[in-house]
Amino acid sequence: GSEITSIKAFAESNGSCPIPSTYHSLTEPRDDVADHLAASIPVIDFSLLTSNDPQIHATTVQQLANACSQWGFFMLTNHGISEKLMEEVMEKSHEFHNLPLEEKEEFADKGPLTPIRHGTSFHPEAEKVHYWRDYLKVMTLPQFNFPHKPPGYKELGFEYSRKIRGVARKLLKGISESLGLEPESIIKSTGFDSGLQIFAVNLYPPCPEPDLAVGLPPHSDHGLLTLLTQNGIGGLQVKHTGKWVNVNPLPNCLIVNTGDQLEAVSNGRYKSVMHRAVLNNRDTRISLVLVNGPDLDKEIGPELGLLENEDPLFKTMKYRDYFEIQQKTRFAYKSGLDEIRKC
Ligand code: SIN
Ligand code: FE2
Repeated sequence: GSEITSIKAFAESNGSCPIPSTYHSLTEPRDDVADHLAASIPVIDFSLLTSNDPQIHATTVQQLANACSQWGFFMLTNHGISEKLMEEVMEKSHEFHNLPLEEKEEFADKGPLTPIRHGTSFHPEAEKVHYWRDYLKVMTLPQFNFPHKPPGYKELGFEYSRKIRGVARKLLKGISESLGLEPESIIKSTGFDSGLQIFAVNLYPPCPEPDLAVGLPPHSDHGLLTLLTQNGIGGLQVKHTGKWVNVNPLPNCLIVNTGDQLEAVSNGRYKSVMHRAVLNNRDTRISLVLVNGPDLDKEIGPELGLLENEDPLFKTMKYRDYFEIQQKTRFAYKSGLDEIRKC
């Protein structure tokens, strides 16, 4: 077990060099970063996807198909969420993490799918190696929950989570089309409009030995689409053709990745991309990560419209049951999808 309940508090109180050996994560080489690929991360212009001009829309749907099948990852520009709102949510999120530990105790993590959870690392009791991150995770859909402090955070959290949901919904329509399905197909089959949304606020303090620890180990996300922004500090890497690639986001874009449920629904056409968060020794990094998933009680599997000439690659099961499997396997550097793959 770990005695550290907040790596932020620990890093601030301790000069903390050398870092505790329980944070050494040496199984993960850092020298396999392919920087020449960073410039080829796909960019999708949301205003073109939602264009009324059928030709422009169709071209963008095709770009979406390429981004999802080749990368499982893209940057979304012109998404319509104001810079001001994004900055305010980021600022309040930092304020939340700056609250004294006693003030955050009421939110101490009591397990997956509890409405508000504050904690550190991934799963301090269960893991062998700890990760250099604190988090706040809030279930914002199907019901809206949010911390009541600092003042104003809840209102901003509501506005941001709903705007993100709207963007994710339109992306899913485009993704449906990109698979040759009706625009509403995935939204309907996954019960998206009564679906889950988890709003995670990650804080990675500067780490005096950034090459020994990691912020988050390689994993894939359990939902359909994850939409992320950060406070201008890099650290996210995605796996592409066997190599890690640094993500250097365009100003004000949303970073989007496809999750396990989209891989299942698309019968493997769109892969749920592996990603990780690395550290630096100068700046605190904050990421706002919104995981958008199906209805927890809906049975999810490959879209029937895709199975005319092929067999389903994944078992059909309730998202809630998949979520439980994923939460258990993600510490083992494995995708939860391996557990439900048919062959
Ligand atoms: C995540 O994968 O949930 C967060 C990654 C990041 O902080 O960039
Ligand atoms: Fe993730």
